[in-house]
Amino acid sequence: MAEQEKQRRPIRSYVLREGRLTRGQQRAFEEFWPRFGIDFHRRRLDLVGLYGNPNPVYLEIGFGNGESIARMAQTNPENNYLGIEVHRPGVGRLLLQTAESGLTNLRIMRHDAVEVLDNCLDDASLEAVYLFFPDPWHKRRHRKRRILQPEFVARLARVIRPGGMFHAATDWEDYAQSMMSVLTASTDFENCAGKGIFAPQPEYRFPTRFEERGQRLGHGVWDLVFRRL
Ligand SMILES: C[S@@+](CC[C@H](N)C(=O)[O-])C[C@H]1O[C@@H](n2cnc3c(N)ncnc32)[C@H](O)[C@@H]1O
Repeated sequence: MAEQEKQRRPIRSYVLREGRLTRGQQRAFEEFWPRFGIDFHRRRLDLVGLYGNPNPVYLEIGFGNGESIARMAQTNPENNYLGIEVHRPGVGRLLLQTAESGLTNLRIMRHDAVEVLDNCLDDASLEAVYLFFPDPWHKRRHRKRRILQPEFVARLARVIRPGGMFHAATDWEDYAQSMMSVLTASTDFENCAGKGIFAPQPEYRFPTRFEERGQRLGHGVWDLVFRRL
């Protein structure tokens, strides 16, 4: 690849491994994407129109298989939820689950969350953003791919309303420390647990299969809960 071309391509926080869709997931795309999916376009979303009400919107970035966001949506029908994920099988699973559970307050996008933040969301339009177990990119040469960087925090600051929340969780200690420094350095957020302190796990964050696997391997878990000033 020409050097110039390489430089133009943005560094992404994921590598797309398409994986095979099960028949159920395939069917979910055909049947349920029109109802719960939102196609990506470079224009702002009309959130009130999408959900049919002005309830607060909670965004989960990189929902994996969607267990967490599906349970949050089920437990809190008075809130709206938006899930963004690039991995097709995970999106298929969440589409199925959304339809089977009869959820009306959940919508799904399959696209790079960074581009969705930049193009699709109005200033101060979100109540909270969740980033649970983002890819840790633990090799030193891959660290630039980590999603939680100062520019990402600036993007979050634009879309979260003043008083709204950002909550990240990770089971990689050095990523947890780097998240803490990046968030502490931002003048747009304050740490709800106190400066430099990790938060106890909030009761609304349900364990995912990914997290349970980490715990079986003896990983710790670090939660960071910050308020938009
Ligand atoms: C390690 S998994 C964790 C999944 C889930 N949150 C959990 O706890 O089980 C991270 C997920 O983030 C997704 N992801 C990474 N970068 C993303 C981006 N820029 N936009 C949307 N999804 C992304 C990946 O596809 C992957 O499914």
